[in-house]
Amino acid sequence: MSGGAMRYRVRPEILGIAPYVPGKPIEEVEREFGISGAVKLASNENPLGPSPAALEAVRGVLGGLHRYPDGGGTMLRETIAARLKVAAKRVILGNGSDEVVDLLAKALLTVGDEAIMATPTFGVYRIVVLANQGRPIEVPLRAGRHDLDAMVGAVTPRTRLLFVCNPNSPTGTAMTRNEVTAMLERLPEQVVVVCDHAYEDYAVSADFPQTAALLESGRPVVVLRTFSKIYGLAGLRIGYGVGPADLVGMLNRIRLPFNASTVAQAAAIAALGDEAHVRASRMVNAAGKTYLTQGFARLGLAWYPTEANFVYVDVGRDGRDVFERLLHHGVIVRHLDGTWLRITIGLPEENQRCLSALERVLADG
Ligand SMILES: Cc1ncc(COP(=O)(O)O)c(C=O)c1O
Repeated sequence: MSGGAMRYRVRPEILGIAPYVPGKPIEEVEREFGISGAVKLASNENPLGPSPAALEAVRGVLGGLHRYPDGGGTMLRETIAARLKVAAKRVILGNGSDEVVDLLAKALLTVGDEAIMATPTFGVYRIVVLANQGRPIEVPLRAGRHDLDAMVGAVTPRTRLLFVCNPNSPTGTAMTRNEVTAMLERLPEQVVVVCDHAYEDYAVSADFPQTAALLESGRPVVVLRTFSKIYGLAGLRIGYGVGPADLVGMLNRIRLPFNASTVAQAAAIAALGDEAHVRASRMVNAAGKTYLTQGFARLGLAWYPTEANFVYVDVGRDGRDVFERLLHHGVIVRHLDGTWLRITIGLPEENQRCLSALERVLADG
């Protein structure tokens, strides 16, 4: 828009979409506050960095970048499928798992169709549903967890999608395998359930529903996974969905031909084989979770039990103000609403920086 009235017309529902607000980049905060050495605990990235095996694989394919990628993502899809013991035609790659959410909405929603989701949950679902002319139906969490009964109760003949973000962002809370499978049994077949398991690799609870178990249910379930979190490849943009072969076939009809780059495919295959990096990432996360939550307890703060690589903590006062004061200390976290902050679990020294800055900010009154 060049001032004045818009000369072109966008679909009216787009005017009602608030843009996604990503975590603040380190460079921006350092410039803004004239500091150096800021730590970013805002986007649930892996503090250990990318899998070294993935980096080596990236270097190995650079000389072939004049060629288009494998548009079918064959090797990567087959590697994923073999691990999950499903047919490769059930796997679709995305430019991040975000893109698979977009493909699902494009394929399944017509004007006014409904998509049920929790609130608060991952903000992309709402944006994508609105952008595809659907209606987001937001069901409040109960005690920080998905209220699956209320979500089933919200189903109407117009419902096409139901999102279960598990573990949920921003709360980190998880639904159990029995809870999810019991819900699947109660849903009509026309509802596609999207289980967003971006953080599955961090879940430690024994009753967390593993992807493979959900895929056995025989229900229209699409599980979303990403290489952005434990595999440390957020900058490459690669994720995937696994679902019924016929639905995945439909998504493939509307997927842009080369949505997963050569570099991303090669890195992802290598990352899947790098068990040492995944193990180390889990250990850093477990230790950091204990450290941060013990610190919160000491400060008298409440938090939700988390199965992910972040903690949602109630700072007991205006969260936006605490977020901004933390920036002055070079600590970037995420404020989404009210008195709560979402803090990514980092390296030991990052967690210490965060906790001592939080302690100082809260002591300042
Ligand atoms: C619940 C959830 N799903 C998906 C994503 C994004 O995944 P990707 O980077 O694969 O698009 C995120 C990232 O923050 C997330 O929190």
